[in-house]
Amino acid sequence: MSTNKHSHAQWGSRLGFILAAVGSAVGLGNIWRFPYMVGQNGGGAFVFTYLICIAVIGFPILIAELMVGRRGQSNPITAMARVAEQNNRSTAWASVGFMGVLAAFLILSFYSVIGGWSINYIAKVGMGEFTGISADAVGNVFTGMLGDAKELLKWHTVFMLFTIVIVAFGVTSGLERASKLLMPLLGVCLVAMVGYGMFSSGFSAALDYLFSPRFGDINAEVILSALGHAFFTLSLGMGVMISYGSYLGREINLLRTASIVVVMDTGIALLAGLAIFPIVFANQLDPSQGPGLIFITLPVAFGKMGGGVIIGVIFFALLTFAALTSAMSLLEPVVELLEEKTPLNRAFSTIVSGAVTWILGIAALLSFNEWSSFKILGFNIFDFLDTLTGKFMLPLAGLGVIIFVGWFVHRKIIREELHISGTSELVWHIVARFVAPIGVIIVFASQILDLLGYKLADLLAYFG
Ligand code: TRP
Repeated sequence: MSTNKHSHAQWGSRLGFILAAVGSAVGLGNIWRFPYMVGQNGGGAFVFTYLICIAVIGFPILIAELMVGRRGQSNPITAMARVAEQNNRSTAWASVGFMGVLAAFLILSFYSVIGGWSINYIAKVGMGEFTGISADAVGNVFTGMLGDAKELLKWHTVFMLFTIVIVAFGVTSGLERASKLLMPLLGVCLVAMVGYGMFSSGFSAALDYLFSPRFGDINAEVILSALGHAFFTLSLGMGVMISYGSYLGREINLLRTASIVVVMDTGIALLAGLAIFPIVFANQLDPSQGPGLIFITLPVAFGKMGGGVIIGVIFFALLTFAALTSAMSLLEPVVELLEEKTPLNRAFSTIVSGAVTWILGIAALLSFNEWSSFKILGFNIFDFLDTLTGKFMLPLAGLGVIIFVGWFVHRKIIREELHISGTSELVWHIVARFVAPIGVIIVFASQILDLLGYKLADLLAYFG
């Protein structure tokens, strides 16, 4: 990235940007959250709904965020305000950016706790703790870790420190270099694990589970979870992609870049599913057990396979790396904002925002043990943060961005940014104005109906 006095810094190359954007998108969301969401929401029914959400809602919103960032050349809040001004709209649109930055604190706090689990598992696998033990015993190791607040705190702290150090050193040096090597390696490692799964007795059951949706299982909860996850996994609704877009040069093709990010991110998630579910079915584990899923299934396989210790260490090291590149992107918008709005320099902005997130993370990790009976609206703190951000804040902020870009940004600007005209322009308008926003709104409406005790399917049947 090169900086000069008159303009905002720019990415060194298109490849550099793609790696960083993929680095943000690919993380715990793909490998930890996706499989357990699949397991909790009926398998194929979830995968199917998720793929649709990615294509018709996530993809256009990703483009919209990158576009606002590149036009606004600033942090998410200022960028929204600037683009609104350029279009003679109210700068109140900046509030959408604000909600995003707030969500960053909340997400990063629990994200760091899971990142800590991943670091901890590098050590556990490396010391042979899982070698030759039963699936039940692997489960006990995980439950033991959850019950130990000090242990969780230690690794959460290590993860957060890594994140802070990397972010403090700036965009290029931190993000670009390492991703080039490690992201592809993560892909290779997953492919190898899918290969291992192919020879297990659970493979065909896993294929069936993931890719033969029972459409009757698709209900409001599944749809809302799938939508929320589409936002989470693509790093949307939080201003991350607005921030990143602000470093993106004019000459870069947004549509193409966004497609690459979406394809890579979805590919990694599906690979993770194909790696994990054969192990689940071959060992009669429970697919719907929740956030512990990969930490209970994968070590079972690492414990059995030849060279499992080495492969396991490599795997959790790569997962930690992927988590770190995502965590940096969660901290980035906050730091960028503090840097621009306060006298703090980059290092101090990073430390201050990192420290606040760290403290919130402690509350999240205590909900697995000391504070497990403390509930907000029936959720423990961890689940509350996850649900509030994933199911509400991200989709709402994303809705704000797509409505803004679809309805309030001049067509001329859209043409310039996306280099589209004629039919492709028409398609963009239909998607940005109607399909994507209405999709999000329907999901919310069905959730509210569901809360009121109605099922969308019943209503449709009634009108049909
Ligand atoms: N997408 C990341 C993952 O899948 C998580 C993440 C990073 C994120 N930045 C984000 C989620 C911004 C929402 C918003 O692990």
